[in-house]
Amino acid sequence: MTRPSPGRHLLSVADLGADGIDEVMRLADTFVEVGRRPIPKVPALRGKTIVSTFFEDSTRTRLSFETAAKRLSADVMTFTGSSSSLNKGESLRDTVLTIEAMGADCFVVRHACAGVPAQVAGWLAEVGRASVVNAGDGAHEHPTQALLDCFTISRERQRRFGHRPRRPAVLSGLQVAIVGDIRHSRVARSDVLAFAALGAAVTLVAPPTLLPPSLEGWPVEVSQDVDTVVAKSDVVYLLRLQNERMTEQYLPTLREYTATYGLTAQRARLLGPSALVMHPGPMRRGIEIAAEVADSASSVITAQVASGVAVRMAVLYLLLGSGAPIGA
Ligand code: CP
Repeated sequence: MTRPSPGRHLLSVADLGADGIDEVMRLADTFVEVGRRPIPKVPALRGKTIVSTFFEDSTRTRLSFETAAKRLSADVMTFTGSSSSLNKGESLRDTVLTIEAMGADCFVVRHACAGVPAQVAGWLAEVGRASVVNAGDGAHEHPTQALLDCFTISRERQRRFGHRPRRPAVLSGLQVAIVGDIRHSRVARSDVLAFAALGAAVTLVAPPTLLPPSLEGWPVEVSQDVDTVVAKSDVVYLLRLQNERMTEQYLPTLREYTATYGLTAQRARLLGPSALVMHPGPMRRGIEIAAEVADSASSVITAQVASGVAVRMAVLYLLLGSGAPIGA
């Protein structure tokens, strides 16, 4: 088992394995309880400094990490690439080492290019012991999204249906469909690794143009028959068409895409009574998911966002904590 620990990084779900994912989820349960307190704060990371370094737009991940860090009593620095001295020609390496020199203990890194968080970890290793958390790099990975997705599925099945998971394979026996733009999705890559590690059977549903050029080594089935897959799935996970990463035209028309692959209100009638509908956000209502489906009882999209804070508290605590009790 590998898991986040002081001086370490979370760059990929593959860094964790089933036991590591389960450890994050167990700790996140504790932090959900902390979040319900009148003062939702513990002193666990007092004296630590966490810097959110976002070189690409974000709403959920950035605010979630910053909230998580504050609830752990860490100091938070916020760096925004678009308003930084990068615009004056400073290199990314010099930018990172400049922030490190101010005493950062952990860099939460989002970048449009795959591999940048790993590169940042390499630069930091030359000068100290700061940790790096990958907050989404290009079409590569988004590990904390996958962790919060596993946590949400497990908790919602327990809360709604009294399902008590076997550990660590908490998704054992579940059929999970990931539907949409797999090709450009870092969420899909991390989710496939995490869902499969926890025992789920994963089916990718996408037009051939929106699948990766090779799926060799991916522990998945592939289908274009969305109706059949939706009807048999315990979880239907929709993905946005990621226009910002598309370099050519992958679809004839948006209307055709919605009709063929979208979770329309009509198609959602095929869902089983205990099926969960998920989306990492940002979602485009009326394209990959109908507005009434996003707001329906099957949808756990808001629960995903709420889980994100507790799960990121767990990740930061495991990376930076002293090993002492979390605290009251
Ligand atoms: N799910 C996700 O990464 O959302 P943001 O781009 O808003 O952070």
